[in-house]
Amino acid sequence: MNTPSKPKILVARAIFPEALAKLEESFEVRSNQADLIFTPEELQKELSSVVGALVAGSERIDANALAQAKNLKAVANISVGYNNFDVPAMTSAGVMATNTPDVLTDTTADFGFALLMATARRITESEHWVRAGHWDKWSIVNNPLGMDLHHSTIGIIGMGRIGQGIAKRALGFGMKVIYCNRSRLSEAHEKACGATYVSKEELLRTADHVVLVLPYTAESHHTIGATEIAQMKPTATLINIARGGIVDDVALAQALQEGKIFAAGLDVFEGEPNVHPDLLKLSNVVLAPHIASATEKTRRAMVDLAIENLRAALDGKKPPSLINQELFTG
Ligand code: 8YV
Repeated sequence: MNTPSKPKILVARAIFPEALAKLEESFEVRSNQADLIFTPEELQKELSSVVGALVAGSERIDANALAQAKNLKAVANISVGYNNFDVPAMTSAGVMATNTPDVLTDTTADFGFALLMATARRITESEHWVRAGHWDKWSIVNNPLGMDLHHSTIGIIGMGRIGQGIAKRALGFGMKVIYCNRSRLSEAHEKACGATYVSKEELLRTADHVVLVLPYTAESHHTIGATEIAQMKPTATLINIARGGIVDDVALAQALQEGKIFAAGLDVFEGEPNVHPDLLKLSNVVLAPHIASATEKTRRAMVDLAIENLRAALDGKKPPSLINQELFTG
């Protein structure tokens, strides 16, 4: 007797071996443990023969990727941000789209705060300075002097779950929290974060530290460019843990070079993994390789949630974090 064939799925990036082994019990898996990045043509071909896929931000799922995906039912992003998804195109192709909210909120907020501290207190710059043998004596004025966090004003642009997590951490430092967002938080949420809603202009003008945690959309492209940087205090820091493209990196590099703001901390870049060469030359910028969610525990939780989403979709159940809700009629 023939055993029924298992449904075929694509796991587009390397994942934890145990998670892959578990998937292989119920699916025929086309895996990519070499972690090579598919070209758009390769991705289109890979998607043509599967019913489901696990992907990350490196895979753009749009009409082109879906052109031959006649049997595809669901694509699960191992990421909370889903700017790599063309959701209307997925919906019109009848492909469920899911992401991984909640499981990474605290880890990402921790990192945002760590990047802010490293930037304001010049930690990586100081480390390079020590390693280069420049530390010949302690000095009151000639050691790297930073900016305080405690009792300063933090301005958060994008007050979703992660933004609120950063606000709560800021309260522990006695910081004044101001924010702007597409929509204002409820009174209860504002109270829990000790946060005051202000306009973007007021935030840029008054914050000592500006932290970007908003989703990347056509509207949020270059939320921070030369004009916005000019509105900031010359002593301010700018932190981007959201997405490349939200900041105009060319304008930022120039502003940092000219001392228009004090420093920047960047986890994400326009065109990453390429980093604008001018940023690489500057000492008043802390650079990280898109690692805000990168702890072992959280990355495992993200993979597990993406798998849970995919399994549910393929079993005809509602995925816990379904983005295009209109596709679930069950
Ligand atoms: C992911 C992220 O690691 O979840 C997000 O939105 O930025 C990161 O946690 C990354 O997007 C994977 O592509």
